Amino acid sequence: MQNIDSFTHVRGESLYLDDLPIVNGTLYACVFGSPVAHGRIRSLDLADARNLPGVVRILTARDIPGENQIGGIIPDEVLLADQTVDFWGMPIALVVAETDEIARRAATLIRADIDPLPVVTDPREACALGQLIVPPRTFQTGDAEAAFADCDYIFEGRADSGGQEHLYLETQGAYAIPLENGNIRLFSSTQGPTAVQRAVARVLGLGMHKIEIDVTRLGGGFGGKEDGANLWAALVALATHCLRRPVKYVLHRMEDLRMTGKRHPYTSDFKIGLTKDLKIRAYTASLYQDAGASADLSPAVLERSLFHANNTYFIPNLRVTAYSCRTNLPSNTAFRGFGGPQGMFVIEAAIAKAAEELGVSALDIQRANLLREGDAFHYGQVADGCEAEACWTDAATRYDLPELQREVDEFNRQNKLKKKGLAVMPICFGISFTKKWMNQARALVHLYADGSVGVSTGAVEMGQGVNTKMVQVAARCLSVRPERIKIEPTNTTRIANTSPTAASATSDLNGKALQLACQALTERLLGVARARLQAEEVSIRNEVVWVGNKPSDLGWNDLILEAYQQRVCLSEHAHYATPGIHYDPTVEKGHPFAYHVYGTALVGTTVDCLRGTYTVDYVRVTHDFGQSMNTIVDRGQAEGAIVQGIGWMTMEDLRYNADGRLLSNALSTYKIPDIYSVPPVLDIHFLETAGSDYAIFRSKAVGEPPLMYGIGAYFALRNAVRAFNPSSNLPFDAPMTPEKVLLSLYADALVPTPEVAS
Ligand code: MTE
Ligand code: HPA
Ligand code: MOS
Repeated sequence: MQNIDSFTHVRGESLYLDDLPIVNGTLYACVFGSPVAHGRIRSLDLADARNLPGVVRILTARDIPGENQIGGIIPDEVLLADQTVDFWGMPIALVVAETDEIARRAATLIRADIDPLPVVTDPREACALGQLIVPPRTFQTGDAEAAFADCDYIFEGRADSGGQEHLYLETQGAYAIPLENGNIRLFSSTQGPTAVQRAVARVLGLGMHKIEIDVTRLGGGFGGKEDGANLWAALVALATHCLRRPVKYVLHRMEDLRMTGKRHPYTSDFKIGLTKDLKIRAYTASLYQDAGASADLSPAVLERSLFHANNTYFIPNLRVTAYSCRTNLPSNTAFRGFGGPQGMFVIEAAIAKAAEELGVSALDIQRANLLREGDAFHYGQVADGCEAEACWTDAATRYDLPELQREVDEFNRQNKLKKKGLAVMPICFGISFTKKWMNQARALVHLYADGSVGVSTGAVEMGQGVNTKMVQVAARCLSVRPERIKIEPTNTTRIANTSPTAASATSDLNGKALQLACQALTERLLGVARARLQAEEVSIRNEVVWVGNKPSDLGWNDLILEAYQQRVCLSEHAHYATPGIHYDPTVEKGHPFAYHVYGTALVGTTVDCLRGTYTVDYVRVTHDFGQSMNTIVDRGQAEGAIVQGIGWMTMEDLRYNADGRLLSNALSTYKIPDIYSVPPVLDIHFLETAGSDYAIFRSKAVGEPPLMYGIGAYFALRNAVRAFNPSSNLPFDAPMTPEKVLLSLYADALVPTPEVAS
């Protein structure tokens, strides 16, 4: 089934926040953000801005009627700065004006007198200063220290991975409309309608019931709007609350780049121990996460880095400690993979280091340590339905890995100024929110008297195709044509207490709730059919009631009408909570994931050794989609994730100067993959697997896992560089930009980190 949004997308008719019709009397907001990354506010001069004609009001922390606080996990994030500013661009005041242009001009007229405080932008430095968001966490199994004694080889090193800008096409924004009795309806570009509702209620000192959040769709979120949308929504809601007028704010791209948090950069130390047969016996690591100025989702992201520290390898003795470090950058946040990629990069770097030192291929170490059915993860869960070896074997044979390796070797023998590199990237990703209570969802289904169907769930459509999958679930469960079904905007008055659309779990959780609702309705309809047809064995097939194996003359429309006239309830609200998951953080053991997703990618690159430029020539994947319910959507998700992962690992280079100011603050200085960066060969094979009972229709979650194939591009490039310059001792420091490639091609020693000028 095609994506149901294709039609309005290609015609430009899909409605995003900024496309909503403007209500009479709408005002426009703009943030005045901190001009320094850290300091104590002495005074604010608002006079010039206030005097600009068209400015209606300038709001500061003093105007907040409720709590000046939007921190979700930890209350450490104020809505508007009052005492100190903690990052460059931190909102200090909100200008509200008659037009967008006036609001923006007025914001430039505000002056702040701020006493500077020391700026920390390095997580290791923050850690040394004791600036931790939460106490460090350690996941361990076996006895790593003791096991090193039994190892034949031990290698140590450091691995750094950079941040990543979400670059959703639709920037952050919100539009608040005052209703009667102080109630507010708010349109938000958010992955988490309930998170927005909670933040707004808290800031305004109101009950959540007075705040309605409505989301039609997002032009992408990629994690950046899981909690990142709360701030903008709370700001416009504050203005609407104070002025009783509609207030809208849609960020310009450069504001969004400057003021919003990104993927967490990590810097890590590792130690890996192997036996002669290349089995990993022991692995230890310390991960330093750059959380930015406040907690936001950092502790949860940190947790997932720990869960995925072993990637898809069985490591009997492992100890990994992770530190969430507070720096003076915008608060880093969820980003596709949610800390998993950062944890996986470190073990892959450790394996590459071992391979390079031993003079063996990394593939041999990877292959020798793949997780098997029944192996325990370091957090206690036992691998069940483990497809790690099946994916590896399929990819290696389907794409002829030995032949690909021979081609690389042959090419490198014959070419001096161009070198090829190959890397294999197997993945394993756990599906479920790592907070158990978040693994719940609800669906509300109305069968209208004319036989059409309205479906509401907590899922937010952000391009990932969840609405298409919800149509498929309802169509299959009710046995009606998809054309009968409408997916409603996500709205907190129809579906309350939603978990964000995140963790790749949205179609599983909401789909299962929808399935339950449809089953309950079907049961009721079958009761009506039984009475009407005087038969016991009735079923609905393709909009017709069947008796035994024969179609009756009772069709869907008549059945619905009959049920309605008999006063049978044609609406159902159902609840789903993932069974079987549990986790005990006091011992860091449990069964946190409903299931895991596996796969293997073969990645090939070519480096131009004169220029340092490169191409990713192919990504060839065997992926475990389970029983994919929509191969078009799933393939699109895998392709998009792979390209986004390659971008993170190769070209997306976030630069802050020592004063904490973002230098890569525009699309001229921050490069993301475009259509020309997409590997010319991007093969994705759907491995035949059983799927999981916990996946909707046994179709496994797909949103995030394939992003981690992009890590293979980093190691393939590294292999190409080393083919040119075997003594190049380049650090494990992603992204592998062409500049870094060029330097490492001609360096024997460590490539120095270039000094960044302000
Ligand atoms: N695909 C598109 N087109 N746009 C997005 O913003 N977000 C990703 C992924 N795929 C995203 C996307 C992220 S971070 C997640 S967690 C999942 O979609 C969320 O949706 P799902 O749970 O329905 O897979
Ligand atoms: N993934 C994504 N988002 C989340 C998670 C998670 O595991 N936990 C809390 N928010
Ligand atoms: Mo995705 S990072 O869980 O929104």
